[in-house]
Amino acid sequence: MRVHLSRPDITEKEIQEVCAVLRTPNLALGPKLTEFEQAFTKYTGRKHAVAVNSGTSGLFLCMLALGIGPGDEVITTPFTFIASATSIMMAGAKPVFVDIDPVTLNIDPEKIEERITDKTKAILPVEVFGSPAGFDTICHIAEKHNLLIIEDSCEALGSTLNGKKAGTFGKMSVFAFYPNKQITTGEGGIILTDDQDLADMCVSLRNQGRGKDTGWLGHVRLGYNYRLSDINCALGIVQLSRIDEIKAKRQQVAKWYQQILADDDRLIIPAEQPNCDTNWFVFVVRLAEQFDLEQRNNILTQLSDSGIGVSNYFPPVHLQPFIAEQLAHKEGNFPVTEQVAARTIALPFYNNLTKDAVNTVCTELKEILDKY
Ligand SMILES: Cc1ncc(COP(=O)(O)O)c(C=O)c1O
Repeated sequence: MRVHLSRPDITEKEIQEVCAVLRTPNLALGPKLTEFEQAFTKYTGRKHAVAVNSGTSGLFLCMLALGIGPGDEVITTPFTFIASATSIMMAGAKPVFVDIDPVTLNIDPEKIEERITDKTKAILPVEVFGSPAGFDTICHIAEKHNLLIIEDSCEALGSTLNGKKAGTFGKMSVFAFYPNKQITTGEGGIILTDDQDLADMCVSLRNQGRGKDTGWLGHVRLGYNYRLSDINCALGIVQLSRIDEIKAKRQQVAKWYQQILADDDRLIIPAEQPNCDTNWFVFVVRLAEQFDLEQRNNILTQLSDSGIGVSNYFPPVHLQPFIAEQLAHKEGNFPVTEQVAARTIALPFYNNLTKDAVNTVCTELKEILDKY
């Protein structure tokens, strides 16, 4: 690859801190876990943080802690990473999809109310690609209908809407730390909430259903091993301490792309939405309407063949074969999602991407588009 799609940003400080943990006997359930969780409550202003081994585990534990299960429906978007929907299914509940807003690419608040039934327990909105656009309206609708919000903020660490941070909109909110995310712990996730009982439940569920006072071999409920090691936490502590620097770097890279690609009418470029300050997770351009799915896929292949790392974030979740089968979905069910998903190109995007590399990517992309 000449330019990678994504790269983690690890400094000497992260390496030192991870190595320092390895010189102690506390590799799990140690002081770095507590420090990592405290760093998150401090950063977000939320009362409780429970670190887990992935964003998916975090979302699944939210379902369990909130008592969401068979017979329940959770409204979410079909334009997201698969785990937003599968975390609902893992709990035995049913994801009910609502199409997206063609501008923000987040769930369309205007279309939520028509899908609420007496089985609806929660809304699981996603800050897709990092943008919290529309979350104020979504919260309003949830409140009006007495629905819980499980905020899938896995892609949005550092983003704000009206100055309010992503991860503070949900009754429970989850961040994820795979190496392509704004900060990484290698693998990992964290659950945030202001509710002590929900936090306590997540602490128990992530640790084999152990009770507060039952000791290592006492188990009070069906639990899991979703713990995050102190090695991961040490990495995450340093990464989170750099979040402002990381956000500035990502916003700079986004700005370069926006400047270079702005006047190309074959492309729709991600733009900052009103009242948002977005810490982009990925930079996803869209082909104009005259392009179709086959052409988009060809363009992805050509970019990849020329050494540019790209991806098709996201194929519609409702059309993933097992979901389409299980939930009886077919093409045409969510036309905005399908229209958008057929034309996306995620371009290389990471903290230390240089202006030269951005230029290379844009030149290559434009040359390929010239052939059409
Ligand atoms: C929107 C969204 N939800 C959930 C997840 C799941 O996170 P993880 O890969 O850590 O399980 C991701 C990760 O890519 C995501 O983008």
